Formats: sequence, C-alpha cells, structure tokens
Amino acid sequence: MFKIAVLVSGGGSNLQAIIDAIEFEQLNASIEFVISDKKDAYALKRAEEKNITTLVFDRKEYGRNSSDKILEVLKGKVDLIVLAGYLSILDGDILKEFNNKIINIHPSLIPSFCGPKMYGIKVHEAAINMGVRYSGCTVHYVNELVDGGAIILQQVVNVYFEDDAKTLQKRVLEEEHKLLKKAIKLIIEDKILIDNGRVKIKS
Ligand code: GRF
Repeated sequence: MFKIAVLVSGGGSNLQAIIDAIEFEQLNASIEFVISDKKDAYALKRAEEKNITTLVFDRKEYGRNSSDKILEVLKGKVDLIVLAGYLSILDGDILKEFNNKIINIHPSLIPSFCGPKMYGIKVHEAAINMGVRYSGCTVHYVNELVDGGAIILQQVVNVYFEDDAKTLQKRVLEEEHKLLKKAIKLIIEDKILIDNGRVKIKS
C-alpha cells in the first residue's frame, strides 16, 4: 500500500479531500500520519476522527528543528509527504531524504503570488490587487526554494471584478481539492517523470 504523511497547519480541507478520495477508492493509499505545526489546527480533529496518528511539532517549541523531528518520524515509513496548508518551511536533511517525494499545494498559478510570506489569504489579496483575470492553484515538488520545485499540475480559476480575496479563495480552494487528488494519483501510479526540473506526465 502506498503510504502518505500529510502536513497541515489549518482547517485541513485539503486533508479531508485526500481522506475522502481514499474512502471512495479514488486513491489506492493510506494516510499513516498527520503532522501539524499548530496544536489547535482543525485538521488534527479531522485526522483523529479517522483514527489517523497525529503529531504536533509546534513551531514555537521546535523552531528550525521541526524538519529534523519530522524526518525522524517519517524516515522509511512513508512514500510521500503532502504539504496541505502547512505553513512552516521544511529544510535540512528531510529535503534530501525525501527528494522528489514531498509535494505542496499553493493557491496561485506559480510563479505568480508565491514565495516567502505569500500564503493563505495574502495570496488572494495580491491577486485581487493586481487585477489579474485568472488565478488558480499549483501542485509542485518541494525543494529548498519556497514554492520553487518542479510544477506537477496547475488549474486556472477565473477572477471576476466583483470578487474579493475571500470569494476568490473559496473558488480556488474547491479546485485545490481536485488538483491535489489528481497529483497524488499520478505519483501513486508512477506516471511522473522529472527531466531537468520539469515534469513530464507519462501516458
Ligand atoms: C490552501 O489554500 C492551501 O493551498 C494553502 O493553505 C490553504 C489550506 O487550506 N497552502 P486547508 O487547511 O487545506 O483547508
């Protein structure tokens, strides 16, 4: 069975989308761990409800050591780490040990509105302020650059004049749930080839 760890910081709707996809047999996988950097993340409740092992490495307590702690727990135990609204930056050995085995979902079309400090509602505020007609979401591999790893999938979302950051966030989030599932499925089915920092999807 393909084993996944999901890292979260917030509401966990993307985690829920993965849980549901597994339950509905759209993904042939199991979630072995849900790890949060915030002890009050609602995502933890979603995991506990499904009897998934949860762990918290609080940012205030562990600071930069949290990546090493996560590596200690996950080494040899999972095939893929999914960052689903995880707000801490992973660094150090975990990036080597899980090279091309960590993915992130970002709520914009990378390289727009991404990078350090561009997360959550800020991403959508920036898109609205810029007046873009399209935004969207991106699933990408994680490397040492924030939002800088190879792009796996992107989905475009319309931006309307009447939108504010909140309405745009809602529209993008619905697409995130689908895109993340799709990307995980491609990985499980070994359909991804990384060539010179670019992803080719095998047919
Ligand atoms: C999503 O928009 C995700 O792209 C971003 O944080 C949000 C998390 O949502 N990184 P949720 O916790 O999965 O509901």
